[in-house]
Amino acid sequence: MGIFSFFKKKEHLPPADLSQVQVDIHSHLIPGIDDGAKTIKDSMLLLQRFAELGYKKVITTPHVMSDFYRNTPEIILSGLDKVRNELSKQNFSIEIEAAAEYYLDYELEKKIERKELLALGEKYVLFELPFVAAPDNLYKAIFDMQMNGYIPILAHPERYSYWYRSFDSYYELKEKGVLFQLNAISLTGHYSPETKKNAERLIDENLIDFVGSDCHHLHHLEILNNARTLKYFHKVLESGKLKNKTLL
Ligand SMILES: [Fe+2]
Repeated sequence: MGIFSFFKKKEHLPPADLSQVQVDIHSHLIPGIDDGAKTIKDSMLLLQRFAELGYKKVITTPHVMSDFYRNTPEIILSGLDKVRNELSKQNFSIEIEAAAEYYLDYELEKKIERKELLALGEKYVLFELPFVAAPDNLYKAIFDMQMNGYIPILAHPERYSYWYRSFDSYYELKEKGVLFQLNAISLTGHYSPETKKNAERLIDENLIDFVGSDCHHLHHLEILNNARTLKYFHKVLESGKLKNKTLL
């Protein structure tokens, strides 16, 4: 062993056991309604892989975006029925529920006021932001969600590059009561090296409340499978802070 390898920090560990996460809370598995699963066959293959990886339940979260994916609770829930019917036809059991990933746009506030959001569990709402800049109504939307009895979960906070040089913004969001859901595959560098670094910092500062796959297709689950050996994946799983299990 050379002197450098002696000092080199180990980045890889034995694969973490995903059955301890129990519930995945971010994925796109309802066929044909967003950029995730295209057919019911895709949905089944993805759910099978989730089960093999050790998950007990998947709460899938189709995109709701005014300009691209005008999904309503009815569309999402009838898609969920289709998936459940196919699961029982194939006699294959993994629990599946559906909520949504709400893009913070001009129509979201109306949906909040009408209390027509699909929540994870009783009250958690998964929402995402534009990747170019934080929207002007960010804090208002958070406040409105809370006033209407929802608890906001920000999807993949590590991916918003406009906060990389203003890390305090994360603390501001946390002070407002926003929970954070990390995409586990960010830790592999899948999105970018900067996203990976930011994800690691969020874990180091103990700011992550949920982990999720953000699975759109099988390749994402293969990346997730590889992420299991990463030191930072172990670190977030062992943080004692993750709330995924509470949604079982
Ligand atoms: Fe997503």
